[in-house]
Amino acid sequence: MTVTETPATRPANPRFSSGPCAKPPAFSLDALVDAPLGRSHRATVGKAKLKQAIDETREILGVPEDYRIGIVPASDTGAFEMAMWSLLGARPSETLAWESFGKGWVTDVVKQLKLAENTVREAGYGEIVDLSEVDWNKDVCFTWNGTTSGVRLPNGDMIPADRAGLTLCDATSAAFAQDLPWDKLDVTTFSWQKVMGGEAAHGVIILSPRAVERLESYTPAWPMPKIFRLTKGGKLIEGIFRGETINTPSMLCVEDYLQALVWGKSVGSLTGLMDRANSNAQVVWDFCDARDWIANLAEDPALRSNTSVCLKFTDPTVAGDADFAKAVVKKLDAEGVAYDLGSYRDAPPGLRIWCGATVETSDLEALMPWIDWAYHAVLAERAA
Ligand SMILES: Cc1ncc(COP(=O)(O)O)c(C=O)c1O
Repeated sequence: MTVTETPATRPANPRFSSGPCAKPPAFSLDALVDAPLGRSHRATVGKAKLKQAIDETREILGVPEDYRIGIVPASDTGAFEMAMWSLLGARPSETLAWESFGKGWVTDVVKQLKLAENTVREAGYGEIVDLSEVDWNKDVCFTWNGTTSGVRLPNGDMIPADRAGLTLCDATSAAFAQDLPWDKLDVTTFSWQKVMGGEAAHGVIILSPRAVERLESYTPAWPMPKIFRLTKGGKLIEGIFRGETINTPSMLCVEDYLQALVWGKSVGSLTGLMDRANSNAQVVWDFCDARDWIANLAEDPALRSNTSVCLKFTDPTVAGDADFAKAVVKKLDAEGVAYDLGSYRDAPPGLRIWCGATVETSDLEALMPWIDWAYHAVLAERAA
């Protein structure tokens, strides 16, 4: 077979979006029949479901018992902004950014919160900042896995255990796929829509005891919308961390998340979920290694994400050519073999392939020849 012939095998599931991500392989709407629809989330049944979601999140992610886990409004954005608005300003801060979402948090700190004593450190797409330069005695905001650039922190070794500042970590595309060092993270946020293939709109916020101490000892100078309020009368609202949510959650989405967690346990909990993401990403890495026209955006293998794998075309005739990359993505979509494969709108042109746990390795194996095919087909069209 030449690369201009269409491959014989198609991915059984062409969903490779980086969010909302593919549902777990076993997913069916029938699995949601147990959702307490039309019931109050404050009724015993509703509260029990929300508490179960918190308890099982703790179990699978290995979150320490003395850390609080809350389900909050507005997906990962809501959870992370709630943390920034509630905690920052008590001491000088640093905001670290290596892709679009991290840059968004920089904008929040600089233009909205207008924190005067803040240092911004930014790295280009595919890189991260030099963590040895960061002052961890300040409050530090960062993204663990850069969804739009395909980089991740390899570990938390650069974060000192005895830091005086708080670490605020947006881990939305890392949680359930990468090992998060809880002793190095004071605030961790994510959305169900990523690695677990849940629904968006609800965020999870995980607070260390030191973050709670800050919440109870510091009142920010700015007004706090109800949707962000984690304290009342200077005390943590403990109910939030037992499932008494700030406002009304979707019990259908909660049920969907619970089902995703059941599936997560069935594949071996955190280790099994991480293994799946690692095997998936390896398929794409191997594909790139065997070709001289496509490469990982993250040049340092230690920084390569195992969830949002971002690729660039390196052949000089098409490198950096957004129209070319879009044409490849369009071809794959038109064939129905891969949806949502384009790189993020602010990122360098190329492909972004979600490799999180809900994606089947066999689907990635089936996809790779199609990328060969689409690439050469668009080249041929151009030549003609
Ligand atoms: C790193 C990162 N942060 C924040 C967000 C925003 O997440 P949400 O839309 O769930 O609020 C995303 C979404 O892709 C993301 O990848």
